[in-house]
Amino acid sequence: MHALAYAQANSHKFLDELIEFLSIPSVSTQPEHKPDIQRAAAWLRDKLLLSGFPRAEVMPTQGHPIVYAEWLDAGPDAPTILIYGHYDVQPPDPLELWDTPPFEPTIVGNDIVARGAADDKGQLYIHVKAVEALKETSGSLPVNVKCLFEGEEECGSPNLAPFIQEHSALLTADVAVVSDTHILGPDTPSIVYALRGMCYVEVEVTGPDHDLHSGIYGGAVHNPINALCQMIAQLHDENGRVTIPGFYDTVRDLSPEERAELAKIPFQREEWLQETGAPTDWGDPAYTIIERTTARPTLDANGMWGGYIQPGVKTVLPSKAYAKLSMRLVPDQQQDEIAQLIREYLVSIAPPTVTVEVHYLHGGSGAIVHRDSPAMQAAFHAYTAGFGRAPIFVRAGGSIPVVAMFQKFLDIETILLGFGLPDDRLHSPNEKFHLPNFHKGIETVIHFMTDLGTRTSTD
Ligand code: BES
Ligand code: MN
Ligand code: MN
Repeated sequence: MHALAYAQANSHKFLDELIEFLSIPSVSTQPEHKPDIQRAAAWLRDKLLLSGFPRAEVMPTQGHPIVYAEWLDAGPDAPTILIYGHYDVQPPDPLELWDTPPFEPTIVGNDIVARGAADDKGQLYIHVKAVEALKETSGSLPVNVKCLFEGEEECGSPNLAPFIQEHSALLTADVAVVSDTHILGPDTPSIVYALRGMCYVEVEVTGPDHDLHSGIYGGAVHNPINALCQMIAQLHDENGRVTIPGFYDTVRDLSPEERAELAKIPFQREEWLQETGAPTDWGDPAYTIIERTTARPTLDANGMWGGYIQPGVKTVLPSKAYAKLSMRLVPDQQQDEIAQLIREYLVSIAPPTVTVEVHYLHGGSGAIVHRDSPAMQAAFHAYTAGFGRAPIFVRAGGSIPVVAMFQKFLDIETILLGFGLPDDRLHSPNEKFHLPNFHKGIETVIHFMTDLGTRTSTD
């Protein structure tokens, strides 16, 4: 196929462009990076235009802008795909743990190291370059393509649902495609068919109404940090199960068939432990590690603070203690209901010596997609052609809230066409993207679009 040859011949150019993209510190959660976010959005729009999209624009939202592009010349009989990706990145902190600066992309062996390399700029850009290869070689596309690239994914997509609802006519498509997950290994492609949802809360515990000298009052006034620790310690039982009443009530059970399938996924416990650096695994012994990390709900403290945390000694009995708690949800758990359950439970177990407030920060639904759609078949064949091996179906433990939004507001399913690797160090220092996957990803997307274009219906 000419497009594949074009992609191979232009691999250096594609990489140079990716390096430019990765050099823009588009950290969505930090206000001082707002100009960088805008620069990244404008850069992406310009590259979409240069790559052949006749329409590409930066569309404002209440928060960071959305980059929208379309090329609809395949005609009304051809399927339309809606490609989603995010051009924002996580903060690079802690900076001192990076071997090379996070926004100075560095090639190390077969990897490109930079914040956002795999999550999600490298994966997003695969689609832009696949379209360019098709355009430059055949002058047209096998499918109609729309792109929706957001700049707020890493801070919970607060403006995405209203945007999709408001522009539902513009975004009409037969199927969505998202490259923001990973495959099992460089030579083991896989297709994610389920994602977990999220319920994120912040807990504020108040003891005395101002900080006290711990020598004068300690022993008779309950320390809110101690109280918060006792409360958090009660959120799991000795088997690692969440103790919040009702937490598991709506969890969809795994069928014996699905458990048997998940058990076939290649998994080496020792390698997995090495990847984590943890001394041993933890969690509900009734489920395997793969099940615990992808198909079962969790509760984790993501941060805790209060009192004195600067160098040296300060004997304070603080007034406040805080924790950020996140819960990964599985179908059919509802984030609003779970937020209510944890609020009631924390209030009920709070000792009378403190008061507790629970603030709901973010929620998103999990999703499961059908595995037998024409688009899924096209994805299956595309991975097989791009990686020389048939993909395995897996579930993923992370969250991509847009998948449930597409189901709810546009009534379309999403194909999770991921090209990352499990050890890409997403959200961590030294994030990387495996360059062979960047190039194979472009080839896989060319196969996907070409294959899907030959199928008549996409539902
Ligand atoms: N790309 C990730 C999600 C992901 C990673 C899914 C690997 C499956 C496998 C995404 O950018 C992300 O980090 N999502 C956040 C959502 C949160 C900020 C609301 C997550 O999962 O924590
Ligand atoms: Mn991502
Ligand atoms: Mn992420």
